[in-house]
Amino acid sequence: MAEVVIVENAAAAGALVATEIVELIDRRPDAVLGLATGSTPLPVYLALRTQLAGHDVSQVRGFALDEYVGIDPAHPESYRSVITREVVEPLGLDPRRIHVPNGAEATIQHAGDDYEAAIAAAGGVDLQILGIGTDGHIGFNEPGSSFASQTRVKTLTEQTREDNARFFDSIDDVPRHCITQGLGTILKARHLVLLAFGEGKAQAVADAVEGPLTAFLPGSAIQLHPHATVVVDEAAASRLRLADYYRYTFANKPSWQGI
Ligand code: PGA
Repeated sequence: MAEVVIVENAAAAGALVATEIVELIDRRPDAVLGLATGSTPLPVYLALRTQLAGHDVSQVRGFALDEYVGIDPAHPESYRSVITREVVEPLGLDPRRIHVPNGAEATIQHAGDDYEAAIAAAGGVDLQILGIGTDGHIGFNEPGSSFASQTRVKTLTEQTREDNARFFDSIDDVPRHCITQGLGTILKARHLVLLAFGEGKAQAVADAVEGPLTAFLPGSAIQLHPHATVVVDEAAASRLRLADYYRYTFANKPSWQGI
């Protein structure tokens, strides 16, 4: 099963995951990071600003999980813009090495295959950062997504559009379609790190970690992965039945073992 780490707050989660990423980059300077957008991963990127100082990031590569279809890449809420603003610029990464699915309508029919080919050419993702939606999605794999799915176009649920309306002037501006790495794509990454904070994510986290394996709850796909780490605050952990066991396990973890 996934390793569950319950931390005090989002900042502590960010620091923990950032440490793991810095060790990865030191070990492998051209590491391939799987980058997530949304509010959840921001503490990781913030912690990396400090923790990566003085480390060579010139060869680091990255692949974003998803993008809206039809959005102008220059729109401040396109995931291309978000990744540039939150990750590439503050961490000093080489923008030519950071990829985001191409949501342009003109090329959308082969954009998924192109993205899969680019990830494969890079040798796959070393560490994939994930958030989870209140409906259990990871990436933009909405309920019903096949565990074997590859990068492709999906229709966003109304719940996801409402959740993301805060980033736009109005819900009418939230695109209806996205291009997202599939669950099958995500499962090929060598290490999955799923983060979640707040009471609003508690049910999705419990379902993903302890619920049945079902495409109805796409986050449950992490149960199929040999190396998945779930980092949550107390509120997001509040519905986990084995919370005490997870705390005990982490407290007694051998010092040589990372997350
Ligand atoms: P959030 O979104 O981090 O903005 O809550 C998570 C997700 O939808 O995957």
